[in-house]
Amino acid sequence: MTVVVEEPVFETQAEIVKKPLENNDLVLDAGFKMPEVKDLASENGFAKPETNAFGNTFRDYEAATERKKIVEEFYKQNHIHQTVDFVKKMREEYRKLDKVEMSIWECCELLNTVVDESDPDLDEPQIQHLLQTAEAIRKDYPNEDWLHLTALIHDLGKVLVHPSFGELPQWAVVGDTFPVGCAFDESIVHHKYFKENPDYYNPEYNTKYGIYSEGCGLENVMVSWGHDDYMYLVAKENGTTLPNAGLFIVRFHSFYALHKAGAYMHLLNDEDKESLKWLHVFNKYDLYSKSKVRIDVEEVKPYYLSLINKYFPPKLRW
Ligand SMILES: [Fe+2]
Ligand SMILES: [Fe+2]
Repeated sequence: MTVVVEEPVFETQAEIVKKPLENNDLVLDAGFKMPEVKDLASENGFAKPETNAFGNTFRDYEAATERKKIVEEFYKQNHIHQTVDFVKKMREEYRKLDKVEMSIWECCELLNTVVDESDPDLDEPQIQHLLQTAEAIRKDYPNEDWLHLTALIHDLGKVLVHPSFGELPQWAVVGDTFPVGCAFDESIVHHKYFKENPDYYNPEYNTKYGIYSEGCGLENVMVSWGHDDYMYLVAKENGTTLPNAGLFIVRFHSFYALHKAGAYMHLLNDEDKESLKWLHVFNKYDLYSKSKVRIDVEEVKPYYLSLINKYFPPKLRW
């Protein structure tokens, strides 16, 4: 199987997606920002025209239009299927942690090996995105070692697309996340497709608070299932000593309605509000760390291994 990790697409931001090229080809995001359509050639998973084997602006423009449709279809599937029942089922299944046993670094390598380097439009292997984000933060916040490690691990949950992890469809792995069990905020990308989600009509789930209460804390809120919530569960259940802000970043880094649009603030408790400040810091680097400077993995590996050793057990259950 080939898994392609690539830069995304959207109006609002976030993560994904190009349709599978063949049956078993899967495509993921690298967590970058959606630029203007006219900038897609250089910004959105396509190499700049002069460096793209096929490149010219006409082709890129067509690709951009096609890509937009694919993203919309992605969100349609996502918004239809992410229900309270679905999230409960996935959390129950993946909380078992009975899939694989490996270290954090081994997971970085696993995610890296599933990049299809034969795709000329493909940018960097996923580990480059992880390390570029981590190294950029390290430069600006040298004393926050927990934040460096948080950056390294934030997308590891994307292994959910791998056969050993259930080979989940993309709509259950990447893309923006949002709470389930209360009303879907208007700021969520492609909001109209929630009208096809059964929870939209459930009076228990379709009010401002739904099953939650004022200031209940995001810890107690279910969010749509994807790589964020999965990695959060893995870290927590394996007894990480990362501070709460680190776990908060891992769990909510795709929750754009919160950290970009400022929605759902009524569900946050005081600790969440503190963590949100760090999420805002982190998010800038997640989106914009795509310096094309390639990180020398072997050079920085000892530093990250020391952090892994500090905050995680040598082997984790996944
Ligand atoms: Fe990312
Ligand atoms: Fe992500």
